Amino acid sequence: MNELTHFEIFLYCLGNKWHQRRKMLTRTFHFNILKKYSRTMIEQAEELLVKIQAEVGNNQTDVLPLITKTTLNVMCETAMGTSMNKDQQIISDKYFQAIHRIGQSVGQRLVRVWLYIDAIFACSKIGKIQKKAIKDLHEFTMKIIQERKDYLTNNNVITNADGDDEVYGKTGRLAMLDLLLENEKQGMIDVEGIRAEVDTFMFEGHDTTAMALSFMITRIANEPEIQNSIYEEMLSIFGESQRRPTLEDLTKMKYLECCIKESLRLYPSVPFISRYITEEVELSQKFAMMEMKTMMSSLLRRFRVEPVTKPDDITFTCDLVLRATHPLFVRFLQRK
Ligand code: HEM
Repeated sequence: MNELTHFEIFLYCLGNKWHQRRKMLTRTFHFNILKKYSRTMIEQAEELLVKIQAEVGNNQTDVLPLITKTTLNVMCETAMGTSMNKDQQIISDKYFQAIHRIGQSVGQRLVRVWLYIDAIFACSKIGKIQKKAIKDLHEFTMKIIQERKDYLTNNNVITNADGDDEVYGKTGRLAMLDLLLENEKQGMIDVEGIRAEVDTFMFEGHDTTAMALSFMITRIANEPEIQNSIYEEMLSIFGESQRRPTLEDLTKMKYLECCIKESLRLYPSVPFISRYITEEVELSQKFAMMEMKTMMSSLLRRFRVEPVTKPDDITFTCDLVLRATHPLFVRFLQRK
């Protein structure tokens, strides 16, 4: 058997595992379940508005730290079924640092071919930093998994592994983690597997949207006409009302959707595709669009955003996601 064939078998095995895990989780993104997630997104948007309110009157605000906490909270609640308490907040600070260190170390390893050899990498400074960061990352996710397990046991929550609308918790919200834990009982996944999936979602689900929103807010601050047009669209949907958005409202936000897509084109949170596909795939990543629409519409209904950082001044750093090298500053003004 030649090397290529081995490689193909390796890919095939990876593909099988990937396929089985995705199948397990895809149902959490069913529209009925997404509807439930929208409540969390709205609540988190409201908390974000409170934080932004405190920034009004300041000459400049660094958007990313505000947004990142919000998107991480969204992921904690929707995917993991847990909300950030004080203890977790402390661990999550370590988590943010860990994410950045892992991202940096992956990038640094990529451009140093001698570090491709695991034994050399393990002894290197970058390897040691990465190992410590992975430990911190796992600490965070394991705590979340344990908390959810305890919650499900203590509250006698019955999870419907079929993932349809009939899933209950105290909050009436399905967490992706519940499905994984249910599958664990049936022997379809082990704790390590659960942790790996949780890590992927926690990372993919919060850092990508945080960067996308931060770039978009900074850009929109520099595009007053476009910002006005989005606001006009909001007026046409909500009038002067301060009411919460419904899913129907979100589907009406066509112009905002175009702006989000354009912003993602200009600032793609994940600027690479490392996948090998064997057939055409049409992507429909609805969760992120719903989250971005909820955040942007809530923000622009209440505040005007004025420029501080100019688009031409933005320089980029890319690790696992596209980042700005320096903080992204804007100024928030109250609309009414
Ligand atoms: C603006 C937001 C987002 C962008 C631009 C984005 C983009 C991407 C891209 C390009 C990939 C493939 C990377 C590769 O080739 O290796 C990917 C993978 C993935 N994303 Fe996102 N994503 C976003 C938000 C999210 C959110 C909110 C979630 C979860 C709720 C999520 C979950 C995932 C997962 C689990 C994978 C791995 C999929 C797999 O294993 O097949 N992403 N994302």
